[in-house]
Amino acid sequence: MNLQDRDAGVVWHPFTQSLLDAPPIAISRAEQVFLFDTDNKPYIDAIASWWAVLHGHSHPHITARIAEQLEKYHHVIFSAFTHEPAIELAERLLERLPKNQKKVFYSDNGSTAVEIALKMAVQFWSNKGIEKTSVIAFENAYHGDTFGAMSVSEADAFTKPFAKLLFPVLRIPTPVPGREDECFEALKKCISENEVAAFVYEPLIAGATGMHMYSEKILDELVSYCRKKDVFTIADEVMTGFGRTGHEFASGGLQHPPDMMCFSKGLTGGTMALGATSVTDEIFNAFKGESRYKALLHGHTFTGNPLACVSGLASMDLFEKKECRDNIDRIDKSHQSFVQKLKGIKGASNPRSKGVVLAFEVQSKDQDGYASSMRDNLLGFFLSRGIHLRPLGNTVYILPPYCITNEQLAKVYDSILEALARFGEC
Ligand SMILES: Cc1ncc(COP(=O)(O)O)c(C=O)c1O
Repeated sequence: MNLQDRDAGVVWHPFTQSLLDAPPIAISRAEQVFLFDTDNKPYIDAIASWWAVLHGHSHPHITARIAEQLEKYHHVIFSAFTHEPAIELAERLLERLPKNQKKVFYSDNGSTAVEIALKMAVQFWSNKGIEKTSVIAFENAYHGDTFGAMSVSEADAFTKPFAKLLFPVLRIPTPVPGREDECFEALKKCISENEVAAFVYEPLIAGATGMHMYSEKILDELVSYCRKKDVFTIADEVMTGFGRTGHEFASGGLQHPPDMMCFSKGLTGGTMALGATSVTDEIFNAFKGESRYKALLHGHTFTGNPLACVSGLASMDLFEKKECRDNIDRIDKSHQSFVQKLKGIKGASNPRSKGVVLAFEVQSKDQDGYASSMRDNLLGFFLSRGIHLRPLGNTVYILPPYCITNEQLAKVYDSILEALARFGEC
C-alpha cells in the first residue's frame, strides 16, 4: 500500500474535509525552501509550513544542536527542575524583546501561549482582589483553536459550533487603513463601559483571517490608551515574531511596548513544538505570595522541553546573523516591487506587503470565503506548478523561509501572475 492509502486508513488531518480535499502529498525529505514528495518532486514552500520554518527546512545547524542535546537529556519535568537550554533561551529572547519584558513562561504551541497570557491577565486582577475579567479583541482576530483562543478569535464558521461555550469578548474593528478612528473610539467605549482585564491583538498583521495589515501609529495609540486605563495589552506575536513584519518583533517597532507577548512557530525555527509567553515584572510579582493559590497553577507536560529549547537557541543563532537580516530586507524590497506590479493587474485587489508577508485578494464573484471553490482551484494550481501557497479563501499570500532566493521568489511571483490571468475576474 502506498503512503496515501495508509494515511487515509488511519490519520485525521487538520483543516481538512476528507470527502472533498485531495489526498495529502506524502513528503520524504525537506531541504532549504523545498519539500520533496515521495517521487522526489520539489515544492517551493512559500508559506514556510504554516509560517514556522524561518531559516529553511532541515537546517544543518539546528540539526547539529539537537543531536548534541539528544546525547544529554530529552525531557525533564519543568516544575521543581530546570535546565540550561530553557534558561539560555529565555535570556536570549528577553535580550531582543522590549525592555519591559522580564520573565518567560513556556508552553508548547501558539494557542497555549495565548491561553496562558489571558489567564495571567485575569488572575493578576483576581490576585489583587479586583473584579476585572472582560477581554477586548479585534473583529478579524485569530489566536488559535483551543477554547480560550477561539473565544478571542473572530466569530466565524470555524467557531460557530462552539459559540455557546465560548466566553464573551468585546470586539473592536481591526484598524486597517480607513478604520483607525472607528477602532480607537470602539476601544475607548469598551473600556469606559466594562471592567476590562486585557486587550489581545496580533500586532500589525491579523494573519489567519486574511493578512489584514495596519499601521504602527494606530497600534501605538491603542496600546498607550490601554496603559493609561490599566488594561493589559497582550501582543500575540505567534506569526509576527522573528522578523516577519520586517522588525525583529512587530512590537519592537512601537513606542509603547505591550505588557505580555506570545510566541511559537518561528521560536524554534519551525523545528520543534514550543510556545512562550513573556511578561513584565509587574505581572510576575502579582503571582508571588504566601498562598499557593496566588501562583499560576498552569503547566503542560512538554513545557520547556529541552530539545525544543535547543532548537530555539540554534534558530536564534541563525536569526542573529547579519545574513538573516539581509535576507529579510531583500525579501521585503522584492515584495514591495511585486506589489507595485500587482497594482497594475486586473483581478488582484488590495495588493499589500509588510516585511516578508505579501498578500492580495483574487477578485471573484464567489464570495464564499474560506470555503470558496476559488481557494481550492488556486491551491491545486500552485501545487501543479511545484509551489506551496495555501490561500485563505480568495486571499493569496506569501510568507517564505528567509533562505528563499530571488530566482525562487520570481518563480512564485510568476505563478501568481499566471493564476491571476486564469482565475482573476475584473
Ligand atoms: C497569531 C496566532 N496566534 C496563535 C496561533 C495558534 O498557534 P498554534 O497553531 O501553534 O496553536 C496562530 C496560528 O496560526 C496564530 O497565527
